[in-house]
Amino acid sequence: MTEGADTMPGTPSDESEPNLARRRILTATTVAVGAVGVALAATPFIESLEPSEKARALGAPVTIDISRLKPKEMVVASWRRRPVYVLRRTEQELNELPQNNAILKDPLSNADQQPAKLPGWNPIQRSIVPEYLVVVGICTHLGCMPKLHAKAGDPLLGASWPGGYYCPCHGSRYDLAARVMDGSPAPLNLPVPPHYYRDEKTIVVGELSDGSEQNWEPNTW
Ligand code: FES
Repeated sequence: MTEGADTMPGTPSDESEPNLARRRILTATTVAVGAVGVALAATPFIESLEPSEKARALGAPVTIDISRLKPKEMVVASWRRRPVYVLRRTEQELNELPQNNAILKDPLSNADQQPAKLPGWNPIQRSIVPEYLVVVGICTHLGCMPKLHAKAGDPLLGASWPGGYYCPCHGSRYDLAARVMDGSPAPLNLPVPPHYYRDEKTIVVGELSDGSEQNWEPNTW
């Protein structure tokens, strides 16, 4: 309750404790969302369906519109003041994922980096609908935001690069299922948050369809 800035332009001057606390939460949320936009400026990006400020501040489930998401594109939303990446993968990319298993720390997602029960869960694709990867975009080393380098053999990452996420802070590498590669300082795969599909073009992040798992947390963010 005490972290974050004490002032926020355009807020009322009422200094009662509840209003002050609310302003602090809203300020922190705004900063987090701004950081997402800057850090991913070079990434194919479309807007998510924004939840209300109040819902976001409280860490409530958020709704993401994927109706305009094309193959190989990623949308970024904010949940619990953290970035959530939704990447639409191609069939070829999905078919190639098992080839990465030999160079991964946790190829079958054994660590608790996703809820224990995710209906439809595939531990190699790390998704409940194959083409859509939904992960929290926070590196499990020290918390930077990995960047998408979807193209195999990306010159920046070398001929053997299979496509995936690269963390610019200390070089952790993840494949297109957000599974961490051997030799990375990051110990774990990126977290997959509780989520479900309200319909084929709408993802709800922050709970399962029965309302459970709202308090879920991974081994590490
Ligand atoms: S924070 Fe990502 S490699 Fe260190």
